[in-house]
Amino acid sequence: MTLQKKFEQLEKRTHEAMQGGGEERIERQHKAGRLTARERIELLLDKNTFVEVDRFMTHRNQNFKMDKYYGDGIVTGYGKVDGRLVYVFAQDFTVYGGTLSRANADKVVKIMNMALKMGAPVFGLNDSGGARIQEGVESLAGYADIFHLNVRASGVIPQISAVLGPCAGGAVYSPALTDFILMTKENSYMFVTGPDVIKTVTHEEVTQEDLGGAVTHNSKSGVAHLLAEDDEKAMMMLRELMSFLPSNNMEDPPIKPCTDDIHREDVSLNDIVPEDPNKPYDIKEIITKVVDRGNFFEIMPYYAQNIVVGFARMAGRSVGIVANQPAHLAGVLDIESSMKGARFVRFCDAFNIPIITFEDVPGFLPGTDQEFGGIIKHGAKLLYAYSEATVPKITVITRKAYGGAYDVMASKHLGADVNLAYPTAEIAVMGPEGAVNIIYRKDNLTEAQRLEKVKEYKEKFASPYRAAELGYIDEIIYPKQTRPKIIAALEMTQNKTEAMPPKKHGNIPL
Ligand code: HXC
Repeated sequence: MTLQKKFEQLEKRTHEAMQGGGEERIERQHKAGRLTARERIELLLDKNTFVEVDRFMTHRNQNFKMDKYYGDGIVTGYGKVDGRLVYVFAQDFTVYGGTLSRANADKVVKIMNMALKMGAPVFGLNDSGGARIQEGVESLAGYADIFHLNVRASGVIPQISAVLGPCAGGAVYSPALTDFILMTKENSYMFVTGPDVIKTVTHEEVTQEDLGGAVTHNSKSGVAHLLAEDDEKAMMMLRELMSFLPSNNMEDPPIKPCTDDIHREDVSLNDIVPEDPNKPYDIKEIITKVVDRGNFFEIMPYYAQNIVVGFARMAGRSVGIVANQPAHLAGVLDIESSMKGARFVRFCDAFNIPIITFEDVPGFLPGTDQEFGGIIKHGAKLLYAYSEATVPKITVITRKAYGGAYDVMASKHLGADVNLAYPTAEIAVMGPEGAVNIIYRKDNLTEAQRLEKVKEYKEKFASPYRAAELGYIDEIIYPKQTRPKIIAALEMTQNKTEAMPPKKHGNIPL
């Protein structure tokens, strides 16, 4: 074969590989409102940075007369997001429905191992019919190899999943083991067993969308963390998420030039917490007024809205924000919000992202639902996560810090580095009404006497001053000073080093 012919052969094969499952199937994919694996990668990565690995790999299945397609239903490789190295695999639904063959799994394993070695994040773009039925146990083995690597990589490199089409059966467990799951509206679904199986086993009738669509997992189950309108917006969201994260657990998160005055005070903050302690307000108003340029990237915005978590920058540095939300269920801590908060705190701690906590919490939600559901162990998760976190921890109590919830929300006692409080803070074992009802239970107080006692309790205990006297609060600040005070605390804690006692791993109450 002449040299010219050899080059032509490469060109021909490359062209073939680019076609995936062929024009007709690509058209079907587009008609369904989904992009192809290659189009998604193009949008995710910086222009012309994608380097494909294993483009010509094919399946090795001998049992069925199956056509071979270059790449075998998955596109893998590496490239850059904002100039930083990332690894990516994208299931190609146009080839055998993006299903997982042995060869296909080998490609994922290869780039995951590379990502671990080089210390760079992995993005998984999922769109697949699951295990390739023709490959039987080899496919299952492939999945398990990926799960195993997901676990090994957990806490070492960020792992980010997008579910952009089907993701069913055991296939859901790879995304579930990663740090974040994004789903697209209408086009994506995740479930362990689908509507047909459910109908046979439990006689429940449920649509695919209701069972495992993006809205379900973003608002009901808490499986997903982000929701995007379509593939294009999804890729933009992933890029933005990446901008807050370090490449691995040995690195600090990237620093962006800060164009927002680090000394900026905002007098409008003085008016956000209402005088009436029972009146709600939106904690996100405080967050957006405090962080750089008001840019708050919320994680799980539709789930357990009584706690708000997400990323932002302060003086150009990434921070993780955890905040009780008085505008939803009075900001109470319950099973879902405890788990949501705990998982986020652990992510931040694993990847060296300081945690800023805004606290306004009336306590844990009472009720049999909560107790039978295990609020004890789930609430303990948040306590555990805060306690074990060794990244800088800065807490601002805006209003209520009652009971066990005071302890849990990054109190001084759990190792917070800087604890600030607004003059409106109320730090006590419980709210004045509840406290008076218990203390004077046997005294048969008249209504007037009861109100007098409530007032007395409020003045004595429902303030930040007792905690400040004891050193549990470092400083009582005017709300308008929140931004400069937090930035000063972040600067002060920048070189913090703290280690946990040596151990194999802790035993978080799961
Ligand atoms: C091999 C498959 C396949 C599979 C789909 N295809 N699923 N090939 N193994 N599991 C092929 C189809 O034959 C078709 O090939 C192409 O992919 C697209 O599929 P369609 O059915 O035409 O697409 P659509 O109508 O969009 O439906 C997509 C689908 C459906 C909902 C995913 O295909 C489906 O239900 N497939 C079976 C899913 C499944 O049961 N998977 C196993 C789950 S168990 P052509 O050549 O026509 O394009 C599992 C265990 C994992 O995954 C365990 C891990 C521990």
